[in-house]
Amino acid sequence: MKEILLTGITSTGDPHIGNYAGAIRPGIEASNDNSKQSFFFVADLHALIKCQSPEMVYASSLSITCAWLALGLNQNNAIFYRQSDVPEISELSWILNCVTAKGLMNRAHAYKAAVDHNTLNNHDPDYAVTMGLYSYPVLMAADILIMKANKVPVGKDQIQHVEMARDIAARFNHMYGELFVLPEASINENTPILNGLDGRKMSKSYNNTIPLFLEEKALKKAINKIKTNLQEPGEPKDPDTSTIFQIFQTFASEQQTRDMRDQFLNGIGWGDAKKALFELVNNTLKEPREKYNELLSNPSDIEDFLYEGSVKAREITIPLLHEVKQAIGIRKSVNKIVNATV
Ligand code: TRP
Repeated sequence: MKEILLTGITSTGDPHIGNYAGAIRPGIEASNDNSKQSFFFVADLHALIKCQSPEMVYASSLSITCAWLALGLNQNNAIFYRQSDVPEISELSWILNCVTAKGLMNRAHAYKAAVDHNTLNNHDPDYAVTMGLYSYPVLMAADILIMKANKVPVGKDQIQHVEMARDIAARFNHMYGELFVLPEASINENTPILNGLDGRKMSKSYNNTIPLFLEEKALKKAINKIKTNLQEPGEPKDPDTSTIFQIFQTFASEQQTRDMRDQFLNGIGWGDAKKALFELVNNTLKEPREKYNELLSNPSDIEDFLYEGSVKAREITIPLLHEVKQAIGIRKSVNKIVNATV
């Protein structure tokens, strides 16, 4: 049996080059690997936790989809869908809520960080904490378990959530029978976590990103904003602490990386380093950018593509949810409904 790989992308903004290096590029590589069956989805239900702009949630579900397509997702080997188009996920999420210990959720990093922040600011510990944020890992467990995923490629900050999905699955299996596969997080050590314009991790929440498909001029401008130190041209520079070098390396061949390292040690000026970075990024993204703009200008085609993805996804989710319901004792009326939809 093929290994099942699954990952989600939260739709809270346009894709940036950190998403490209961390998720899109490795995902597309996996979609070209015949030994795996991949599932990728736009996590728009998760987006609601962080983003209350309806326009942003919707537009970003389209732009993320177009980015994956423009960069060459292999559709023969990968199923791509939007989370909200597969209602079995939300339904399973509730069922999982009923077997998930509250104490487990108390330990989730994102919730704990919110509580720490509130305590520090003399607020009530749960100030502005929604149930969505609190039970975020349960919805994520539903995403993963409903597809029987074995491997979940995620960034380091998400490992805990995958482990929680595993705990929840084990608890369900123990109570009701072995219906769920226990998933594992997979961290590709070669996948870089890119720094953003200010030198912190590139993230929408820090507002320090370089959007993936900026037009040439805007891309140049963004790259020029990357923070550097005050070293003059001619002074040797440390490539390993430089965001410019880090991003360069992400897009470069080994040979290009070695050459740039030498140039840093030989004192390349920051202006020239930024220029080289722009050329490299722009050359890599030029063609996909055209493709992306073309795709984005036909939203109804993207909707058709997403719809097809949801149909394929539901070939798996509808029968599994049916089994789950049978197991937990939600039966008669469900049989009728399932017979009408399968
Ligand atoms: N929480 C993930 C993130 O913020 C996105 C996500 C949602 C996800 N559901 C998932 C990732 C399921 C992997 C599997 O990056």
